[in-house]
Parts: sequence; C-alpha cells; structure tokens
Amino acid sequence: MVSRSAAQTGAAVVAGGGWSASAPQSASRAAGETGDAASCVGAAQAAANRVADALLGGARNFAVDRALADQLTVIVPGLRHVVRRARTFRRHALDAAVHRGCTQLLDLGAGIPTTGAPRWPGIAVYVDNDPVAVADLRRVASPGRFVMSADILAPEALLDLIDDLGLLRLHEPVTVLLTMVLHHLDDVGARYLLTTLAQRLAAGSRLIVSALTSDALTDAQRHAVVTAYTAAPRLYLRTTEQTSAILTAGHLRVPHPCGRGGLFTATVTVPGTDGTRR
Ligand SMILES: C[S@@+](CC[C@H](N)C(=O)[O-])C[C@H]1O[C@@H](n2cnc3c(N)ncnc32)[C@H](O)[C@@H]1O
Repeated sequence: MVSRSAAQTGAAVVAGGGWSASAPQSASRAAGETGDAASCVGAAQAAANRVADALLGGARNFAVDRALADQLTVIVPGLRHVVRRARTFRRHALDAAVHRGCTQLLDLGAGIPTTGAPRWPGIAVYVDNDPVAVADLRRVASPGRFVMSADILAPEALLDLIDDLGLLRLHEPVTVLLTMVLHHLDDVGARYLLTTLAQRLAAGSRLIVSALTSDALTDAQRHAVVTAYTAAPRLYLRTTEQTSAILTAGHLRVPHPCGRGGLFTATVTVPGTDGTRR
C-alpha cells in the first residue's frame, strides 16, 4: 500500500503483526547484535540514538558510538546524568499522559527502544529516519504499534500519511513525543515542524519536548562539543531561551522555568484547530 503521501516522504511503514513496506534489508541487523559490527548499517559513523544509548549504559551501540560518548563525557562530565534526566522526564511525562486518558501516541525521532522504555497502552506510531533505529523498533512492533521510516522535517506529508492510513485519529488529541530531538534539527526545520504540529493537531494535544542546551557550558566546552560531535544527525546546541523561541514561533506556550542543568524540558498543550488538512 503506497499512498501519495508515502511517495512524497519516501516513508515506509511497518505495523505490528500486519502489513509492511520495510526498511532496507541491510538494516535488519541492528546495533548490539552479535557479529561483525563493521558490516552493519551505521557502524562506520556514530549515530545520535546509539551515542545516547551508550551514555545510558545500554547495549544497542557500536564501538564508534561508545568512543564518542566517552569523548563527550570528558568534555562535559555531567552529560550522562543529563541524558538520564531526559529519560526520566520522558517516562514521567508519558505516565502523566496515560493518567490523563490519552490513547494516541506519536513518537517523533523515536530512537532505539530500550528495556527502560515505558509501555504505552493505546495506539502508538514511532517515526525515525535512522535505519538501525527503525529496524530495532520494527523488531519490537506489536499490534497497535506502527513504525514509520520517515523524515520528521516533512511533517505535512507525514501527518497526511498517518491520516491516509488511519493510524491515528488526528481530529482527536494526540500525545506527541519530541524528546532529545530538537537539538538535531536546524532552526528552519524545527520551526516548520512545530508550526505544522500546532496547526494540524487537535486542540488539547500535548507535545512532550526535551533537548540538550548549552546553558551550563563554558564557551570552550561548547566549542569542544561541537567540534568533537561527529555523529549523525548533526548537533545544534542552543540555549534554553533559543529553544523556547522555536516553540513560541510555532504559537506554543512554553511554561517557565523549562531549562535546568543543560536540559530543556516542557510539556505544551497544542491550541489546535480541527485536526484537518489545509
Ligand atoms: C538522541 S535520539 C532521541 C531518541 C528518543 N526520542 C529519546 O528520547 O531517547 C534522536 C533521534 O531523532 C532521530 N531524528 C533526528 N532527525 C530526524 C529526522 N529529520 N527525521 C526522523 N528522525 C530524526 C534520530 O535518528 C534519532 O533516533
């Protein structure tokens, strides 16, 4: 099943136990599996999600990811703690969404599923464009959980595809995870993504956002991190103020305070319209 939107985004969707238009074959061996890591997709270059996994002490990463994680930790000794706090924030924010009774989850830049990942009781759509992450997500897909290989910087086409396939009811509130992703998007792309979400999602939808910030870094540390960071996608280190400005440009109200110890965190409610296309 390939829709117009799928053709536009180049998206591939895998449904748990259902139909699939799959990720590349070569991606089916994911990080952390036995075998020659160098022959696996992504092994030659570090990837953001696997570096994060390495910082968390996970097993879904390659030597190149661990080496970069170690290098970054030398520059910013508290980095592992910041990444752990981000994970805790995500878990608590998701628990709160479940508690509120939200049944629809859209996880943008979902990354590698980990054993610590919270269970979502409703329908969930996980989106990423990293082949290793998609392969890993696909392996744990189950009924009611859909994995899309797509670029979140083409949000109109992505939402059209989700709508076309009936994966989520976009006229009803959705919980959107955008955790530890904004710092991988440039200003223009990030603003466009957030503006589109604010315009397209139903009123009452919530965006759960976290991002690394440069607030706690000296100029020398900031320079050293940006220079050392060789993973894909690239890193855009912003201050809390700059990160907030990206959300407010999308007409989203950011609560204060939202930045502490190198981490921006916010749960914002989408003012929304009617969830339909324009
Ligand atoms: C640091 S990981 C964060 C993973 C997870 N959201 C978390 O909270 O741990 C960033 C993820 O965003 C994904 N990503 C970055 N830019 C993307 C884009 N334009 N389209 C889809 N995924 C993207 C990366 O592939 C990566 O898996």
